[in-house]
Amino acid sequence: MSLAPLRLLSALAVIVLAASAPCVFAQTGLQVEPLANGVSVTGGGTTLQITALRDDVLRVRESHGSENHDAPLPEDASWAVLPAARTASVAVTPESDGFQTHELRVRISPDLRITVSDLAGKILQSDSRPAEWHGTAFHVYKQKYGDSHFFGLGDKPGPLDRAGEAFVMWNTDSFGWQESTDPIYKSIPYFIDDREGRALGVLFDNTWRTFFDFGKEVPDQYSFGAPNGPLDYYLMYGPDPKHVVETYAWLTGPTPLPPMWTLGFQQSRYSYYPQSQVMEIADRLRKNRIPADAIYLDIDYQDHNRPFTVDKQRFPHFAQMIHELAEKNFHVVAITDLHIAKLPNAGYAPYDSGMAGDHFVKNPDGSVYTGIVWPGPSVFPDFTQKITRQWWGTLYKGFVDDGVSGFWNDMNEPAVFTYPSKTMPDDVQHRIDEPGFKPRTAIHLEIHNVYGMENSRATHDGLLALRPNQRPFVLTRASYAGGQRYAATWTGDNSSTWNHLRMTVSQILNLGLSGFAMSGADVGGFAGSPSPDLLTRWLQLAAFQPIDRDHAAKGTRPHEPWVDGQMHEDIRRRFIDERYRLMPYLYTVAEEMSRTGLPIDRPLFLEFPHATSDGHPIDLDAGNEFLLGPDLLIAPAPSPSEVGDYEVNLPPGIWYDYWTGQQLGRRTQTVTRDLEQRDAAQPNKPLLITPKLAELPVYVREGTILPIAPLTQSTSEKPIGPLTLRVYAGDDCHGDIYLDDGKTFDYRSGQFFRQHFTCEVTADHHLVVHIAASQGSFVPWWSELRIEAMGWTPSAKELTTPTAKTPLRQEGNAWTATVAAPHVAAAMDLTLE
Ligand code: NOJ
Repeated sequence: MSLAPLRLLSALAVIVLAASAPCVFAQTGLQVEPLANGVSVTGGGTTLQITALRDDVLRVRESHGSENHDAPLPEDASWAVLPAARTASVAVTPESDGFQTHELRVRISPDLRITVSDLAGKILQSDSRPAEWHGTAFHVYKQKYGDSHFFGLGDKPGPLDRAGEAFVMWNTDSFGWQESTDPIYKSIPYFIDDREGRALGVLFDNTWRTFFDFGKEVPDQYSFGAPNGPLDYYLMYGPDPKHVVETYAWLTGPTPLPPMWTLGFQQSRYSYYPQSQVMEIADRLRKNRIPADAIYLDIDYQDHNRPFTVDKQRFPHFAQMIHELAEKNFHVVAITDLHIAKLPNAGYAPYDSGMAGDHFVKNPDGSVYTGIVWPGPSVFPDFTQKITRQWWGTLYKGFVDDGVSGFWNDMNEPAVFTYPSKTMPDDVQHRIDEPGFKPRTAIHLEIHNVYGMENSRATHDGLLALRPNQRPFVLTRASYAGGQRYAATWTGDNSSTWNHLRMTVSQILNLGLSGFAMSGADVGGFAGSPSPDLLTRWLQLAAFQPIDRDHAAKGTRPHEPWVDGQMHEDIRRRFIDERYRLMPYLYTVAEEMSRTGLPIDRPLFLEFPHATSDGHPIDLDAGNEFLLGPDLLIAPAPSPSEVGDYEVNLPPGIWYDYWTGQQLGRRTQTVTRDLEQRDAAQPNKPLLITPKLAELPVYVREGTILPIAPLTQSTSEKPIGPLTLRVYAGDDCHGDIYLDDGKTFDYRSGQFFRQHFTCEVTADHHLVVHIAASQGSFVPWWSELRIEAMGWTPSAKELTTPTAKTPLRQEGNAWTATVAAPHVAAAMDLTLE
């Protein structure tokens, strides 16, 4: 390394931060300038600036010139961080060696090591050595402890906890990736450091090929760095991990509320064609009563794989097909890759208009760069120019007019077949012409990791321009931090193996913690052919994951739910049915996600950060368990191919079996009313599960009020019957429902329905369900409420509403009654006794 000049600073040098004038240490050349919102230190060629965006959010920036020449901080611009967050600022209290906010204390040592602690003095992050610079390259080193755990980093395969692993961020077309493959498709340089129950989020906002090491090289140190670009990172303090996730959404934007149909079952294949096959698949789904909302068109619907064309031989009546599918309540998602076929003078509008508008990236000599992808020689839009994104958006007009609902942006790492690197050369020239950035030309090395995100942004914004009152649905393969604002994502070309089924959980959880709350994995696996049991297991699990899309590669055996005979089909259908019954809950969780950034699928430590005595994340003891929303716990086998028993560790508290409503004991499954005694006797005894193909254990936490709908075959169908509220009596009993038209932005002007429910068991053992007055003007589909109460025993067996009395009936473990809910807007108490 080039010995950092700062190391030459006398250990005796004392940085005195005066609240008034900057102070200069002549012998070190170190100048310290207190800022209203932080501090700036300059000297020995280095400028370090630490500012507070909020009391719990810091930003660290550092630049390095040479020993005698300070380098100014680089341009203050970001593809990831929202301008409002980036320009936020709070006043700080200067201190002799740093500053303090109302939540954090920042100390800087004489050799410019940074330590951040909470106000009780608990260290949250500490540089183990000063940042190292080698020309434009740099590395930041932090202290790592034995009990430091790391989550996030997007879709990287491997265990949920990143501790002990190292990663590279470089968006890569990685067909057939495996557990140890790195990098794969996305670069989300964001992680949560969780130690002793205190969480700190770190976003390293650098788009170049960045590196992360969580103690692989040196066990007591973690580090990140880049070959170029800014040393610029944000720290977000919890202490609860949920707060960090919400703060990250404040910084980079939450995943927007998706159209409801995208939460339905989606059927895809590379590729369904001709047109008649697409219709057959749709008809078969309906005939076999397998609920579904979407069918995908992969590249073979296009003329010679040319984006924004249709193969008229295979799809002679494309618009009519879309229309007929819509009549059967199917939405169509069409692939539109970003590579534009290089077809001069052929009447191919995307190429002609793109050339006319100078919209393609260039070689260093100024010629348009050409690379080979599906259509053959292709050119690539310059998505870091706003004007190019606007042009790209216009290309969707024809498909939007035809009624295509969603769009799939694949191959946008970008994938180029020509080279072993599978992408374009490092020196390809991109132009940055963008609000918030100084216009300039940048080489591919800088833009590569944001290229896919800007592609999906162009699609998203284009769809909004074409259909201003419809929520866009874009599915992207590559992205960067903040890309959740524009597109949902999937984990690319996984494989049809049991291990890949298992990995869907940690990948989707880490994606969710990294902002990408709407994600899925190809159900059944993309590469290879799943055995019937594997496909069944996969369809079961994916029913509880945010995007439930069955997809398969060319040449693999069919994947549709019916392909393995009646027994498998029946199991698969039952789980897809269950997803649709849970749609009120799923959509309510999605709406929460769109406000708070909290993911749909959650690791257990997000909801139970204090579940263990030493503060380690409970997920480390919980196999492959995860939560769907705050209340449902899904417990697939940690080794899904094995037929032996496995243990399920439930977080503290009382749990119910979702399928039976039975209140759970621990391993023995005996229900005892004396809960305290039971807990004291065997506080952490796991449940023992014997796997059965037709079953997937799902649990509900006590105090949940779960909204359930009658089964429909698609989300476009209006459910017929009452809204069921499953009341799992217990502490802190509550639930919510949110509903709107599922497609437009009318909810923003009040056209939504939101209702909060609570329950309590009174001193005289009545179970009272309080139904709060609803908010919003949207009229929901139900006019009756069916109550299913679990974990409580009635005496009079009666439910009383303000206007009527209804007998309670016992059905399995539940006491049920259906009551009119004629004035859904009014508050109402239901008393069960
Ligand atoms: C690669 C994608 O990952 C895959 O899902 C798709 O089917 C093929 N490209 C063909 O478009």
